[in-house]
Amino acid sequence: MKKVRKAVIPAAGMGTRFLPATKAIPKEMLPIVNKPSIQLIVEEAAASGIEEVIIVTGRGKTEIVDHFDAHPLLEDSLRRAGKDALLQEIIKATQLVKVTTVRQQRPLGLGHAILCAAHVVGDEPFAVFLPDDLVDSERPCAAQLIDVYQRTGKSVLALMNVPREETSQYGIAAGTFVPDHERELLIEALVEKPPAAEALSTLAVVGRYVLDPSVFDYLRRTNPGRGDEIQLTDALAQMVQKQALIGYLFEGERFDAGDVAGYLLANLNWARKTPRLWRSVQAWVKAHG
Ligand code: G1P
Repeated sequence: MKKVRKAVIPAAGMGTRFLPATKAIPKEMLPIVNKPSIQLIVEEAAASGIEEVIIVTGRGKTEIVDHFDAHPLLEDSLRRAGKDALLQEIIKATQLVKVTTVRQQRPLGLGHAILCAAHVVGDEPFAVFLPDDLVDSERPCAAQLIDVYQRTGKSVLALMNVPREETSQYGIAAGTFVPDHERELLIEALVEKPPAAEALSTLAVVGRYVLDPSVFDYLRRTNPGRGDEIQLTDALAQMVQKQALIGYLFEGERFDAGDVAGYLLANLNWARKTPRLWRSVQAWVKAHG
């Protein structure tokens, strides 16, 4: 089985749900506690064995690339000030993975964004991380999918159960659960954002995928779908007609950092990992809650 070495992170979106914060700052740079949310994504990639991430950017996204680049001036100043812990943290973020960028020139959809990275991915299986989806889990979510890929050789998508009234926010998968592997669904159909009444199930696709490179051929033949955009889900719906795709009910908690409420909850979730911060939150809730 080929190793999953590369990951594509589509980050060209305009972040309209976060205006005015995202007028001059990429939404992927908004912090979860004190790290840009995209750093949590890149950390998950590195912890899952990914060696190179290909960030699909667009206009106004240079801060993302700068964030993962060395900053000798800042490093020297921290060194001189004896701020070693901070210095190590800054350097570590630049050494997690190799970062490559490609540009998506027009906002033609998620599927199109992934296709923009095809020449860098080449002919090998790769992961996709949608940076709005933050997952807190013991074993990184992408690593859970890669485990399934290594065992089965099939493309794998992360799934979670959602309330029926929310199906119109997600790609929805239907299929048959695999005997002896209760978290694995052999996918038979995929639909992008169906209304609740039409949804074939309540199993929603979360933004982590491990894909066979043949997905690029399907993406090239995919016409604009929902929202008049080229949808990754539509390409996968075609692919499942010809090759097995597995949906995996991952272990962990997912936060939609692309939504203001989800973003606030993600901040609380990660703040809880620092006792000093969490005590402040608890004290505030006690006084106001
Ligand atoms: C994208 C995908 C959708 C998936 C979702 C997960 O939608 O198109 O299939 O369920 O991410 O977050 P978006 O939320 O970017 O509109």
